[in-house]
Amino acid sequence: MPDPQRHPFLQGLSKHRGAPPTVVVIFGASGDLTARKLIPAIYNLSHDNLLPPDFYLVGFGRKPVPDEEFRGHAEAAIREFSRRGLDPEVWGRVARNTFYLGGGYDERAAFDRLHALLRKLETQAARELQSLFYISTPPSAFRPILENLGASGLAQRHLGSPLESKVVIEKPFGRDLTSARELNRVIAGVFQEPQVFRIDHYLGKETVQDLLVQRFANAIFEPLWNRNFVECVQITVAEEGGVGARSGYYEQTGCLRDMVQNHTMQLLALTAMEPPVSLDPEAIRDEKVKLLKAIQPLALGSGGAVIRAQYAAGLVGGQQVPGYGQEEGISPQSATETYAALRLAINNWRWAGVPFYLRSGKRLARRVTEIAIQFKCPPGTLFAGTGQFDLAANTLAFQIQPDEGSTVLLNAKIPGLETRTQPVKMHFRYATTFGSNTPEAYERLVLDAMIGDGTLFIRGDETETSWKLITPILEHWQAQPREGLDGYPAGSWGPTSADALVAPRGHEWRKP
Ligand code: BG6
Repeated sequence: MPDPQRHPFLQGLSKHRGAPPTVVVIFGASGDLTARKLIPAIYNLSHDNLLPPDFYLVGFGRKPVPDEEFRGHAEAAIREFSRRGLDPEVWGRVARNTFYLGGGYDERAAFDRLHALLRKLETQAARELQSLFYISTPPSAFRPILENLGASGLAQRHLGSPLESKVVIEKPFGRDLTSARELNRVIAGVFQEPQVFRIDHYLGKETVQDLLVQRFANAIFEPLWNRNFVECVQITVAEEGGVGARSGYYEQTGCLRDMVQNHTMQLLALTAMEPPVSLDPEAIRDEKVKLLKAIQPLALGSGGAVIRAQYAAGLVGGQQVPGYGQEEGISPQSATETYAALRLAINNWRWAGVPFYLRSGKRLARRVTEIAIQFKCPPGTLFAGTGQFDLAANTLAFQIQPDEGSTVLLNAKIPGLETRTQPVKMHFRYATTFGSNTPEAYERLVLDAMIGDGTLFIRGDETETSWKLITPILEHWQAQPREGLDGYPAGSWGPTSADALVAPRGHEWRKP
Protein backbone atom coordinates (compact mmCIF):
# COMPACT_ATOMS: atom_id res chain seq x y z
CA MET A 1 0.00 0.00 0.00
CA PRO A 2 1.58 3.37 -0.97
CA ASP A 3 1.99 5.80 1.88
CA PRO A 4 0.37 9.07 0.77
CA GLN A 5 2.20 10.99 3.48
CA ARG A 6 5.50 10.25 1.78
CA HIS A 7 4.52 11.74 -1.56
CA PRO A 8 5.56 15.41 -1.53
CA PHE A 9 2.59 16.58 -3.63
CA LEU A 10 0.12 14.87 -1.34
CA GLN A 11 1.55 15.84 1.99
CA GLY A 12 -1.07 17.46 4.11
CA LEU A 13 -3.88 16.55 1.74
CA SER A 14 -5.05 13.31 3.26
CA LYS A 15 -4.61 14.56 6.82
CA HIS A 16 -6.52 17.80 6.50
CA ARG A 17 -8.68 17.62 3.39
CA GLY A 18 -10.86 14.56 3.61
CA ALA A 19 -13.83 14.31 1.24
CA PRO A 20 -17.14 13.29 2.84
CA PRO A 21 -18.86 10.04 1.80
CA THR A 22 -19.77 10.66 -1.83
CA VAL A 23 -21.48 9.29 -4.92
CA VAL A 24 -19.94 10.67 -8.10
CA VAL A 25 -22.43 10.56 -10.97
CA ILE A 26 -20.83 11.06 -14.39
CA PHE A 27 -23.15 12.25 -17.17
CA GLY A 28 -21.52 11.31 -20.46
CA ALA A 29 -20.19 8.08 -19.00
CA SER A 30 -19.23 6.57 -22.35
CA GLY A 31 -17.46 9.73 -23.52
CA ASP A 32 -13.83 10.33 -24.26
CA LEU A 33 -13.14 12.53 -21.23
CA THR A 34 -14.59 9.93 -18.87
CA ALA A 35 -12.22 7.28 -20.22
CA ARG A 36 -9.13 9.43 -20.61
CA LYS A 37 -9.33 11.60 -17.52
CA LEU A 38 -12.16 10.99 -15.05
CA ILE A 39 -11.92 7.24 -14.46
CA PRO A 40 -8.08 7.33 -14.25
CA ALA A 41 -8.35 10.29 -11.83
CA ILE A 42 -10.73 8.38 -9.56
CA TYR A 43 -8.50 5.32 -9.74
CA ASN A 44 -5.39 7.32 -8.79
CA LEU A 45 -7.24 9.02 -5.92
CA SER A 46 -8.11 5.55 -4.68
CA HIS A 47 -4.46 4.59 -5.07
CA ASP A 48 -3.43 7.50 -2.86
CA ASN A 49 -6.14 6.68 -0.29
CA LEU A 50 -7.81 10.01 -0.96
CA LEU A 51 -11.29 8.70 -1.69
CA PRO A 52 -13.67 8.62 1.25
CA PRO A 53 -14.35 5.15 2.71
CA ASP A 54 -17.94 5.30 1.43
CA PHE A 55 -17.31 6.12 -2.21
CA TYR A 56 -19.65 5.19 -5.07
CA LEU A 57 -19.42 5.81 -8.79
CA VAL A 58 -22.43 5.91 -11.11
CA GLY A 59 -22.03 6.22 -14.87
CA PHE A 60 -25.05 7.80 -16.58
CA GLY A 61 -25.37 7.65 -20.36
CA ARG A 62 -27.87 7.34 -23.12
CA LYS A 63 -26.99 3.75 -24.03
CA PRO A 64 -28.26 0.96 -21.80
CA VAL A 65 -25.12 -0.77 -20.48
CA PRO A 66 -25.02 -3.47 -17.76
CA ASP A 67 -23.01 -2.54 -14.62
CA GLU A 68 -20.48 -5.27 -15.36
CA GLU A 69 -19.81 -3.95 -18.87
CA PHE A 70 -19.32 -0.38 -17.57
CA ARG A 71 -16.83 -1.70 -14.99
CA GLY A 72 -15.01 -3.46 -17.84
CA HIS A 73 -14.84 -0.22 -19.88
CA ALA A 74 -13.56 1.62 -16.83
CA GLU A 75 -10.88 -0.99 -16.20
CA ALA A 76 -9.76 -0.81 -19.83
CA ALA A 77 -9.59 3.00 -19.54
CA ILE A 78 -7.33 2.73 -16.50
CA ARG A 79 -5.05 0.29 -18.31
CA GLU A 80 -4.79 2.62 -21.27
CA PHE A 81 -4.77 6.10 -19.74
CA SER A 82 -3.82 6.01 -16.06
CA ARG A 83 -0.41 7.37 -15.05
CA ARG A 84 -0.08 4.28 -12.85
CA GLY A 85 -0.60 0.70 -13.94
CA LEU A 86 -3.73 -1.11 -12.82
CA ASP A 87 -3.50 -2.60 -9.32
CA PRO A 88 -6.45 -5.04 -9.08
CA GLU A 89 -6.78 -4.51 -5.33
CA VAL A 90 -7.01 -0.70 -5.68
CA TRP A 91 -9.42 -0.85 -8.63
CA GLY A 92 -11.44 -3.59 -6.89
CA ARG A 93 -12.26 -1.19 -4.04
CA VAL A 94 -13.81 1.24 -6.55
CA ALA A 95 -15.24 -1.36 -8.94
CA ARG A 96 -17.43 -3.07 -6.36
CA ASN A 97 -19.18 0.29 -5.76
CA THR A 98 -19.48 1.19 -9.46
CA PHE A 99 -22.85 1.14 -11.25
CA TYR A 100 -24.39 2.29 -14.51
CA LEU A 101 -27.72 3.86 -15.31
CA GLY A 102 -29.04 4.33 -18.85
CA GLY A 103 -31.44 7.13 -19.75
CA GLY A 104 -32.01 10.27 -21.78
CA TYR A 105 -30.66 13.56 -20.51
CA ASP A 106 -34.06 15.10 -21.15
CA GLU A 107 -35.97 12.13 -19.73
CA ARG A 108 -37.33 13.16 -16.36
CA ALA A 109 -38.12 9.54 -15.36
CA ALA A 110 -34.42 8.63 -15.78
CA PHE A 111 -33.54 11.20 -13.14
CA ASP A 112 -36.17 9.73 -10.81
CA ARG A 113 -34.48 6.34 -11.33
CA LEU A 114 -31.16 7.98 -10.51
CA HIS A 115 -32.67 9.44 -7.35
CA ALA A 116 -33.93 6.00 -6.36
CA LEU A 117 -30.47 4.51 -6.98
CA LEU A 118 -28.83 7.16 -4.77
CA ARG A 119 -31.29 6.38 -1.96
CA LYS A 120 -30.53 2.68 -2.37
CA LEU A 121 -26.80 3.37 -2.08
CA GLU A 122 -27.42 5.37 1.09
CA THR A 123 -29.31 2.42 2.52
CA GLN A 124 -26.44 0.12 1.54
CA ALA A 125 -23.90 2.48 3.14
CA ALA A 126 -26.21 3.01 6.15
CA ARG A 127 -25.44 6.74 6.00
CA GLU A 128 -26.24 9.84 3.99
CA LEU A 129 -24.02 10.48 0.98
CA GLN A 130 -23.04 13.63 -0.86
CA SER A 131 -23.92 13.59 -4.59
CA LEU A 132 -21.40 15.07 -7.01
CA PHE A 133 -22.92 15.40 -10.48
CA TYR A 134 -20.23 15.61 -13.12
CA ILE A 135 -21.57 16.90 -16.45
CA SER A 136 -19.16 15.70 -19.09
CA THR A 137 -21.47 15.69 -22.11
CA PRO A 138 -21.61 17.79 -25.27
CA PRO A 139 -22.87 21.28 -24.34
CA SER A 140 -26.30 20.71 -25.90
CA ALA A 141 -27.06 18.34 -22.99
CA PHE A 142 -26.04 20.79 -20.22
CA ARG A 143 -29.39 22.50 -19.98
CA PRO A 144 -31.68 19.42 -19.88
CA ILE A 145 -29.41 17.75 -17.33
CA LEU A 146 -29.37 20.82 -15.09
CA GLU A 147 -33.12 21.27 -15.36
CA ASN A 148 -33.78 17.62 -14.58
CA LEU A 149 -31.40 17.71 -11.63
CA GLY A 150 -33.58 20.54 -10.34
CA ALA A 151 -36.97 19.05 -11.18
CA SER A 152 -36.15 15.63 -9.69
CA GLY A 153 -34.94 17.14 -6.40
CA LEU A 154 -31.42 15.73 -6.93
CA ALA A 155 -29.90 19.22 -6.84
CA GLN A 156 -31.47 19.89 -3.45
CA ARG A 157 -30.32 16.71 -1.71
CA HIS A 158 -29.06 17.46 1.82
CA LEU A 159 -29.13 21.19 1.02
CA GLY A 160 -27.55 23.34 3.72
CA SER A 161 -25.45 20.49 5.12
CA PRO A 162 -21.85 19.61 4.16
CA LEU A 163 -23.36 16.76 2.13
CA GLU A 164 -25.35 19.07 -0.16
CA SER A 165 -25.27 18.18 -3.86
CA LYS A 166 -22.57 19.66 -6.04
CA VAL A 167 -22.32 19.97 -9.82
CA VAL A 168 -19.21 20.01 -11.98
CA ILE A 169 -19.62 21.52 -15.45
CA GLU A 170 -17.10 20.73 -18.14
CA LYS A 171 -16.08 23.12 -20.85
CA PRO A 172 -17.02 24.67 -23.17
CA PHE A 173 -18.88 27.09 -20.91
CA GLY A 174 -20.85 28.91 -23.57
CA ARG A 175 -19.80 30.12 -27.02
CA ASP A 176 -19.94 33.84 -26.28
CA LEU A 177 -21.11 36.24 -23.60
CA THR A 178 -24.82 35.73 -24.31
CA SER A 179 -24.71 31.93 -24.16
CA ALA A 180 -22.45 31.94 -21.07
CA ARG A 181 -24.90 34.28 -19.31
CA GLU A 182 -27.79 32.05 -20.32
CA LEU A 183 -26.01 28.97 -18.97
CA ASN A 184 -25.25 30.79 -15.72
CA ARG A 185 -28.93 31.71 -15.51
CA VAL A 186 -30.01 28.07 -15.93
CA ILE A 187 -27.48 26.97 -13.31
CA ALA A 188 -28.59 29.66 -10.87
CA GLY A 189 -32.19 28.46 -11.24
CA VAL A 190 -31.17 25.06 -9.91
CA PHE A 191 -28.00 25.39 -7.81
CA GLN A 192 -26.53 27.97 -5.47
CA GLU A 193 -23.10 29.25 -6.54
CA PRO A 194 -21.13 27.38 -3.80
CA GLN A 195 -22.57 24.12 -5.21
CA VAL A 196 -21.21 24.87 -8.70
CA PHE A 197 -17.77 23.88 -10.01
CA ARG A 198 -16.95 25.12 -13.53
CA ILE A 199 -13.92 23.29 -14.84
CA ASP A 200 -10.84 24.76 -16.39
CA HIS A 201 -8.46 21.86 -16.20
CA TYR A 202 -5.42 24.16 -16.44
CA LEU A 203 -6.15 25.27 -12.88
CA GLY A 204 -5.67 21.69 -11.72
CA LYS A 205 -2.14 21.51 -13.09
CA GLU A 206 0.49 21.42 -10.35
CA THR A 207 2.54 24.15 -11.96
CA VAL A 208 -0.42 26.49 -12.23
CA GLN A 209 -1.04 26.11 -8.51
CA ASP A 210 2.67 26.56 -7.94
CA LEU A 211 2.42 29.96 -9.59
CA LEU A 212 0.52 31.20 -6.54
CA VAL A 213 3.15 29.73 -4.24
CA GLN A 214 6.05 31.15 -6.23
CA ARG A 215 4.46 34.59 -6.34
CA PHE A 216 3.24 34.86 -2.79
CA ALA A 217 5.53 32.61 -0.76
CA ASN A 218 8.72 34.30 -1.94
CA ALA A 219 9.50 37.82 -0.82
CA ILE A 220 11.88 38.57 -3.69
CA PHE A 221 9.32 38.66 -6.50
CA GLU A 222 6.55 40.91 -5.25
CA PRO A 223 8.59 44.16 -5.16
CA LEU A 224 9.53 43.61 -8.84
CA TRP A 225 6.11 42.46 -10.02
CA ASN A 226 4.91 45.72 -11.54
CA ARG A 227 5.30 48.36 -14.23
CA ASN A 228 8.47 49.77 -12.67
CA PHE A 229 10.47 46.62 -13.36
CA VAL A 230 8.56 44.51 -15.87
CA GLU A 231 9.04 45.23 -19.57
CA CYS A 232 6.45 42.77 -20.87
CA VAL A 233 4.79 39.45 -20.10
CA GLN A 234 4.46 36.64 -22.64
CA ILE A 235 2.09 33.72 -22.16
CA THR A 236 2.42 30.88 -24.63
CA VAL A 237 0.12 27.86 -24.81
CA ALA A 238 1.52 25.93 -27.75
CA GLU A 239 0.45 22.51 -28.95
CA GLU A 240 2.24 20.24 -31.36
CA GLY A 241 -0.88 18.22 -32.09
CA GLY A 242 -3.40 19.15 -34.75
CA VAL A 243 -7.15 18.98 -34.61
CA GLY A 244 -7.08 15.17 -34.46
CA ALA A 245 -10.41 13.36 -34.28
CA ARG A 246 -12.25 16.41 -32.94
CA SER A 247 -12.71 18.21 -36.25
CA GLY A 248 -16.48 18.63 -35.80
CA TYR A 249 -16.07 20.33 -32.43
CA TYR A 250 -13.01 22.34 -33.38
CA GLU A 251 -14.40 23.68 -36.62
CA GLN A 252 -17.25 25.27 -34.65
CA THR A 253 -14.98 26.47 -31.89
CA GLY A 254 -11.54 27.68 -33.03
CA CYS A 255 -8.52 28.56 -30.96
CA LEU A 256 -9.88 31.71 -29.33
CA ARG A 257 -12.80 29.90 -27.74
CA ASP A 258 -11.01 26.58 -27.21
CA MET A 259 -7.84 27.83 -25.51
CA VAL A 260 -7.66 31.60 -25.11
CA GLN A 261 -10.96 32.53 -23.45
CA ASN A 262 -10.42 29.95 -20.74
CA HIS A 263 -6.95 28.44 -20.16
CA THR A 264 -4.80 31.34 -21.37
CA MET A 265 -6.91 33.98 -19.60
CA GLN A 266 -6.73 31.98 -16.38
CA LEU A 267 -2.94 31.89 -16.59
CA LEU A 268 -2.97 35.63 -17.18
CA ALA A 269 -5.28 36.28 -14.22
CA LEU A 270 -3.12 34.27 -11.81
CA THR A 271 0.05 35.95 -13.08
CA ALA A 272 -1.19 39.51 -12.90
CA MET A 273 -3.78 39.62 -10.08
CA GLU A 274 -3.18 41.44 -6.80
CA PRO A 275 -2.23 39.34 -3.76
CA PRO A 276 -5.47 37.93 -2.33
CA VAL A 277 -6.25 38.68 1.32
CA SER A 278 -6.33 34.94 2.07
CA LEU A 279 -6.27 31.59 0.30
CA ASP A 280 -10.03 31.44 0.64
CA PRO A 281 -11.58 30.53 -2.77
CA GLU A 282 -13.63 33.73 -2.90
CA ALA A 283 -10.64 35.92 -2.03
CA ILE A 284 -8.64 34.46 -4.93
CA ARG A 285 -11.52 34.58 -7.37
CA ASP A 286 -12.34 38.18 -6.41
CA GLU A 287 -8.80 39.18 -7.35
CA LYS A 288 -8.96 37.32 -10.66
CA VAL A 289 -12.22 39.03 -11.60
CA LYS A 290 -10.80 42.44 -10.67
CA LEU A 291 -7.82 41.80 -12.92
CA LEU A 292 -9.94 40.60 -15.85
CA LYS A 293 -12.11 43.70 -15.51
CA ALA A 294 -9.02 45.94 -15.79
CA ILE A 295 -8.11 44.58 -19.23
CA GLN A 296 -8.84 47.18 -21.89
CA PRO A 297 -11.06 46.34 -24.89
CA LEU A 298 -8.91 45.24 -27.81
CA ALA A 299 -8.35 47.20 -31.00
CA LEU A 300 -9.61 45.06 -33.91
CA GLY A 301 -8.96 45.00 -37.62
CA SER A 302 -5.78 45.80 -39.47
CA GLY A 303 -3.02 47.07 -37.17
CA GLY A 304 -5.07 46.00 -34.13
CA ALA A 305 -4.14 43.93 -31.11
CA VAL A 306 -5.37 40.53 -32.32
CA ILE A 307 -3.88 38.10 -34.84
CA ARG A 308 -5.46 34.91 -36.13
CA ALA A 309 -4.08 32.24 -38.40
CA GLN A 310 -4.59 28.70 -39.61
CA TYR A 311 -1.93 26.02 -40.04
CA ALA A 312 -0.84 24.91 -43.49
CA ALA A 313 0.95 21.66 -44.29
CA GLY A 314 4.38 21.30 -42.74
CA LEU A 315 6.78 19.17 -40.76
CA VAL A 316 6.09 18.32 -37.15
CA GLY A 317 8.62 16.15 -35.33
CA GLY A 318 10.09 15.16 -38.69
CA GLN A 319 6.71 14.01 -40.02
CA GLN A 320 4.88 15.67 -42.89
CA VAL A 321 1.40 16.69 -41.72
CA PRO A 322 -1.53 18.14 -43.69
CA GLY A 323 -2.83 21.67 -43.41
CA TYR A 324 -5.97 22.35 -41.37
CA GLY A 325 -8.13 22.61 -44.49
CA GLN A 326 -6.99 19.13 -45.55
CA GLU A 327 -7.76 17.47 -42.20
CA GLU A 328 -10.56 14.91 -42.21
CA GLY A 329 -13.92 16.56 -41.75
CA ILE A 330 -12.64 20.09 -42.44
CA SER A 331 -13.58 22.08 -45.51
CA PRO A 332 -10.63 23.52 -47.49
CA GLN A 333 -12.54 26.84 -47.33
CA SER A 334 -12.69 26.81 -43.54
CA ALA A 335 -11.88 30.15 -41.89
CA THR A 336 -11.53 28.68 -38.40
CA GLU A 337 -8.42 29.93 -36.63
CA THR A 338 -6.00 27.39 -35.18
CA TYR A 339 -3.76 30.13 -33.80
CA ALA A 340 -4.53 33.37 -32.00
CA ALA A 341 -2.31 36.03 -30.49
CA LEU A 342 -3.40 39.03 -28.45
CA ARG A 343 -1.71 42.12 -27.05
CA LEU A 344 -3.48 43.13 -23.87
CA ALA A 345 -3.24 46.28 -21.83
CA ILE A 346 -4.17 46.15 -18.16
CA ASN A 347 -5.30 49.47 -16.88
CA ASN A 348 -4.42 49.47 -13.20
CA TRP A 349 -1.68 50.89 -11.00
CA ARG A 350 0.43 47.77 -11.14
CA TRP A 351 0.44 47.16 -14.88
CA ALA A 352 -0.41 50.34 -16.80
CA GLY A 353 1.91 50.50 -19.82
CA VAL A 354 3.13 46.88 -19.63
CA PRO A 355 2.06 44.84 -22.67
CA PHE A 356 0.81 41.32 -22.04
CA TYR A 357 1.28 39.11 -25.09
CA LEU A 358 -0.82 35.96 -25.26
CA ARG A 359 -0.62 33.31 -27.96
CA SER A 360 -1.93 29.83 -28.45
CA GLY A 361 -2.07 27.48 -31.37
CA LYS A 362 -2.15 23.97 -32.69
CA ARG A 363 0.60 22.40 -34.80
CA LEU A 364 3.27 24.72 -33.44
CA ALA A 365 6.95 23.86 -33.14
CA ARG A 366 6.53 22.02 -29.87
CA ARG A 367 4.12 21.46 -27.03
CA VAL A 368 4.90 24.00 -24.37
CA THR A 369 2.98 26.19 -21.97
CA GLU A 370 5.04 28.98 -20.52
CA ILE A 371 4.57 32.26 -18.66
CA ALA A 372 7.56 34.57 -19.11
CA ILE A 373 8.04 37.77 -17.14
CA GLN A 374 10.58 39.86 -19.00
CA PHE A 375 12.18 42.53 -16.84
CA LYS A 376 13.52 45.85 -18.08
CA CYS A 377 17.01 45.79 -19.58
CA PRO A 378 19.84 46.88 -17.32
CA PRO A 379 21.25 50.27 -18.25
CA GLY A 380 24.18 49.74 -20.58
CA THR A 381 26.47 52.23 -18.82
CA LEU A 382 29.01 49.74 -17.50
CA PHE A 383 29.12 46.97 -20.02
CA ALA A 384 28.03 48.50 -23.31
CA GLY A 385 29.99 49.76 -26.23
CA THR A 386 32.87 47.33 -26.52
CA GLY A 387 31.06 44.70 -28.56
CA GLN A 388 32.12 42.03 -26.08
CA PHE A 389 28.90 42.00 -24.16
CA ASP A 390 25.76 40.10 -24.84
CA LEU A 391 23.39 41.47 -22.22
CA ALA A 392 19.90 39.97 -22.12
CA ALA A 393 16.83 41.19 -20.25
CA ASN A 394 16.39 39.23 -17.03
CA THR A 395 13.49 36.87 -17.56
CA LEU A 396 11.61 34.66 -15.14
CA ALA A 397 9.86 31.88 -17.04
CA PHE A 398 7.44 29.39 -15.53
CA GLN A 399 7.30 26.22 -17.59
CA ILE A 400 3.78 25.01 -16.92
CA GLN A 401 4.26 21.95 -19.13
CA PRO A 402 5.68 19.61 -20.27
CA ASP A 403 9.11 20.03 -18.66
CA GLU A 404 7.64 21.54 -15.48
CA GLY A 405 9.68 24.06 -13.57
CA SER A 406 10.96 27.60 -13.73
CA THR A 407 13.99 29.36 -15.14
CA VAL A 408 15.65 32.67 -14.39
CA LEU A 409 17.75 34.24 -17.10
CA LEU A 410 20.68 36.24 -15.75
CA ASN A 411 23.81 37.79 -17.22
CA ALA A 412 27.10 36.27 -16.05
CA LYS A 413 30.78 36.74 -16.71
CA ILE A 414 32.39 34.25 -19.04
CA PRO A 415 35.42 32.84 -17.19
CA GLY A 416 38.66 34.30 -18.51
CA LEU A 417 40.99 37.24 -18.18
CA GLU A 418 38.76 39.55 -20.18
CA THR A 419 35.37 40.78 -18.94
CA ARG A 420 32.89 39.28 -21.29
CA THR A 421 29.28 38.49 -20.42
CA GLN A 422 26.79 35.90 -21.48
CA PRO A 423 23.16 35.21 -20.53
CA VAL A 424 22.91 32.09 -18.34
CA LYS A 425 19.94 30.18 -16.93
CA MET A 426 19.12 29.04 -13.42
CA HIS A 427 16.69 26.14 -13.50
CA PHE A 428 14.29 24.54 -11.07
CA ARG A 429 12.81 21.29 -12.39
CA TYR A 430 9.96 19.43 -10.74
CA ALA A 431 11.19 16.10 -12.02
CA THR A 432 14.64 16.41 -10.48
CA THR A 433 13.50 17.99 -7.21
CA PHE A 434 10.30 16.08 -6.53
CA GLY A 435 10.33 13.07 -8.85
CA SER A 436 8.09 12.85 -11.84
CA ASN A 437 4.97 11.14 -10.53
CA THR A 438 2.89 14.32 -10.41
CA PRO A 439 -0.87 13.97 -9.95
CA GLU A 440 -2.90 14.80 -13.04
CA ALA A 441 -5.01 17.95 -13.06
CA TYR A 442 -8.24 15.96 -12.92
CA GLU A 443 -7.21 14.15 -9.73
CA ARG A 444 -6.91 17.43 -7.91
CA LEU A 445 -10.11 18.83 -9.43
CA VAL A 446 -12.29 15.79 -8.71
CA LEU A 447 -10.99 15.71 -5.13
CA ASP A 448 -11.51 19.45 -4.62
CA ALA A 449 -15.07 19.28 -5.96
CA MET A 450 -15.83 16.39 -3.56
CA ILE A 451 -14.39 18.46 -0.71
CA GLY A 452 -16.35 21.52 -1.88
CA ASP A 453 -13.27 23.70 -2.41
CA GLY A 454 -13.91 26.01 -5.37
CA THR A 455 -10.49 27.71 -5.49
CA LEU A 456 -9.44 25.95 -8.69
CA PHE A 457 -12.79 26.39 -10.44
CA ILE A 458 -14.22 29.34 -12.34
CA ARG A 459 -16.88 31.48 -10.73
CA GLY A 460 -19.86 32.61 -12.82
CA ASP A 461 -18.83 36.27 -12.96
CA GLU A 462 -15.28 35.25 -13.89
CA THR A 463 -16.34 33.37 -17.01
CA GLU A 464 -18.64 36.24 -18.03
CA THR A 465 -15.88 38.83 -17.61
CA SER A 466 -13.58 36.80 -19.81
CA TRP A 467 -16.28 36.32 -22.45
CA LYS A 468 -16.96 40.07 -22.39
CA LEU A 469 -13.42 40.66 -23.59
CA ILE A 470 -13.39 37.88 -26.17
CA THR A 471 -16.88 38.21 -27.67
CA PRO A 472 -16.23 41.44 -29.65
CA ILE A 473 -13.31 39.67 -31.36
CA LEU A 474 -15.54 36.74 -32.31
CA GLU A 475 -18.22 39.08 -33.61
CA HIS A 476 -15.68 41.01 -35.64
CA TRP A 477 -14.38 37.79 -37.19
CA GLN A 478 -17.88 36.58 -37.89
CA ALA A 479 -18.65 39.79 -39.78
CA GLN A 480 -15.33 39.55 -41.72
CA PRO A 481 -14.76 35.81 -41.98
CA ARG A 482 -11.38 35.94 -43.74
CA GLU A 483 -10.10 39.41 -42.88
CA GLY A 484 -6.54 39.16 -41.62
CA LEU A 485 -6.68 35.34 -41.49
CA ASP A 486 -3.03 34.45 -41.91
CA GLY A 487 -1.36 31.07 -42.42
CA TYR A 488 1.65 29.37 -40.86
CA PRO A 489 3.43 26.16 -41.71
CA ALA A 490 2.76 23.32 -39.28
CA GLY A 491 5.81 22.93 -37.05
CA SER A 492 6.64 26.65 -36.98
CA TRP A 493 6.12 29.19 -34.18
CA GLY A 494 3.09 30.71 -35.90
CA PRO A 495 2.42 33.38 -38.52
CA THR A 496 4.94 36.13 -39.20
CA SER A 497 2.08 38.63 -38.87
CA ALA A 498 2.17 37.96 -35.12
CA ASP A 499 5.51 39.79 -35.00
CA ALA A 500 3.61 43.00 -35.68
CA LEU A 501 1.92 42.66 -32.28
CA VAL A 502 5.17 42.82 -30.34
CA ALA A 503 7.25 44.96 -32.72
CA PRO A 504 5.93 48.44 -31.76
CA ARG A 505 7.67 48.17 -28.41
CA GLY A 506 10.78 46.52 -29.87
CA HIS A 507 9.89 43.11 -28.38
CA GLU A 508 10.25 39.66 -29.88
CA TRP A 509 8.30 36.47 -29.30
CA ARG A 510 10.20 33.93 -27.29
CA LYS A 511 11.03 30.51 -28.70
CA PRO A 512 10.48 28.56 -25.50
C1 BG6 B 1 -8.59 21.41 -24.15
C2 BG6 B 1 -8.82 21.80 -25.58
O1 BG6 B 1 -9.34 22.23 -23.28
O2 BG6 B 1 -7.22 21.54 -23.82
C3 BG6 B 1 -7.93 20.99 -26.52
O3 BG6 B 1 -10.18 21.60 -25.92
C4 BG6 B 1 -6.50 21.06 -26.09
O4 BG6 B 1 -8.07 21.43 -27.86
C5 BG6 B 1 -6.37 20.73 -24.61
O5 BG6 B 1 -5.74 20.16 -26.87
C6 BG6 B 1 -4.96 20.95 -24.12
O6 BG6 B 1 -4.84 20.50 -22.81
P1 BG6 B 1 -3.43 20.05 -22.22
O7 BG6 B 1 -3.72 19.76 -20.77
O8 BG6 B 1 -3.00 18.86 -22.99
O9 BG6 B 1 -2.52 21.21 -22.42
